[in-house]
Amino acid sequence: MFFTRKNLLVCGIEDFDNENLRSASSVAIKTLKSSNYKSVSFSVDAENTQAIVEGIVLGGYEYNRYKSKPTKTKLKNVYLTSGNISKVKSTFEEAIIIAEATCFTRDIVNTIPEDLNPPTFADLAQKLAKENGLKCEILGEKALRKEKMESMLAVGRASRHESKLIHLTYKPKNKAKKIISLVGKGLTYDSGGLSLKIGASMVGMKMDKAGACSVLGMIKAVSELKLDIEVHVFIGAVENMIGGDAYKPDDVLVTRSGTTVEVRNTDAEGRLVLCDVLDYAQDKVKADYMFDFATLTGACMVALGQYTTGVMGHSSSLKHSVLKSASASGELAATLPFNKHLKKLLKSGIADISNISSKPYGGAITAGLFLDRFIYDENKDKWLHFDIAGSAYTESPWDCNGYGATGASVRMISNFLQNIK
Ligand code: BES
Ligand code: ZN
Ligand code: ZN
Repeated sequence: MFFTRKNLLVCGIEDFDNENLRSASSVAIKTLKSSNYKSVSFSVDAENTQAIVEGIVLGGYEYNRYKSKPTKTKLKNVYLTSGNISKVKSTFEEAIIIAEATCFTRDIVNTIPEDLNPPTFADLAQKLAKENGLKCEILGEKALRKEKMESMLAVGRASRHESKLIHLTYKPKNKAKKIISLVGKGLTYDSGGLSLKIGASMVGMKMDKAGACSVLGMIKAVSELKLDIEVHVFIGAVENMIGGDAYKPDDVLVTRSGTTVEVRNTDAEGRLVLCDVLDYAQDKVKADYMFDFATLTGACMVALGQYTTGVMGHSSSLKHSVLKSASASGELAATLPFNKHLKKLLKSGIADISNISSKPYGGAITAGLFLDRFIYDENKDKWLHFDIAGSAYTESPWDCNGYGATGASVRMISNFLQNIK
């Protein structure tokens, strides 16, 4: 990449497709931000506007909240030029909304656990609801107890912060084409609990709320795109800590559904929160689709690598359509298949089910199968589980992702929701 004397930035590109254009615009914006230029202009057409906007907004993203001297840039204006403005305009506006929702998700994930804990998460959801005309309902521990969500409550018991269930609703002006429930794992910190993580594995566990932050980003995008669908967001915001009051391996928890769970590892806490939130979501809303997003297992990274989201569920056609949306929006996703043999590994000698598998293989799938146990029969084909453990966060930049949160799944699901008939 180099500048010519005519103020032109020249950037090598492997292939002239949208994936390469996104990466190239993202490298270009970084270079321009550290140059002396005040204004730049990108030439776009209808086919590549989305990729270039994503490259610029996502590639240029920096999180400076905790830097005493944020990096300065002289770059003030970024223009897009096109031979056919009217054709590019709506694509541009949609791409900006989705890219900004992705940055919104990144900002919350990147926020440290002292600033972003279950109560402050609830405040943030309330603020978004107010700004975007959403309904917002928050359940504190008293209400959670009344709802018999003892599994979720157990995980948060040793925290000094009160656990919160957050329910946001977006209703369109016109008749809704479909109703969608989006459920997010919101572990504002995962120390592992009494099955404490080793030092190096605990670093970065502020990102265990990424699923929850993604579903917030999605409902933000949907409400700004004004899509004709009804969207419900359910977040289980909890902190998994240690202390005299901590839940422990050997406990048996009675979940909201009545199914009992043997705790064999307090670090497999995400599923203990999600099983109650999924049950609550299905009880409260009869959705056409229900998707959950969670940084659920390290095993998902072992299976697919750190860049790819793992997609699990029963409906092949639904999995196929979200994978199509993933590639259309420039995200990496792949399916991990359920099978009845792995399901048997969750048997418990004392309760209905164990919170971990008895074998060390296929951990992303056995976690998905644990959640499956809490999906109502009539919802089996409507549900998908997205494991974003690898894709949600990175310490080494790749594609249009810099250091920290990536906002994984916001673009993929926004695209899926935009295409609902
Ligand atoms: N939050 C972690 C999963 C995770 C690991 C996310 C690394 C991102 C990066 C989750 O709660 C967890 O600790 N899972 C355990 C499950 C095990 C105890 C069955 C894991 O993956 O080791
Ligand atoms: Zn854990
Ligand atoms: Zn976790």
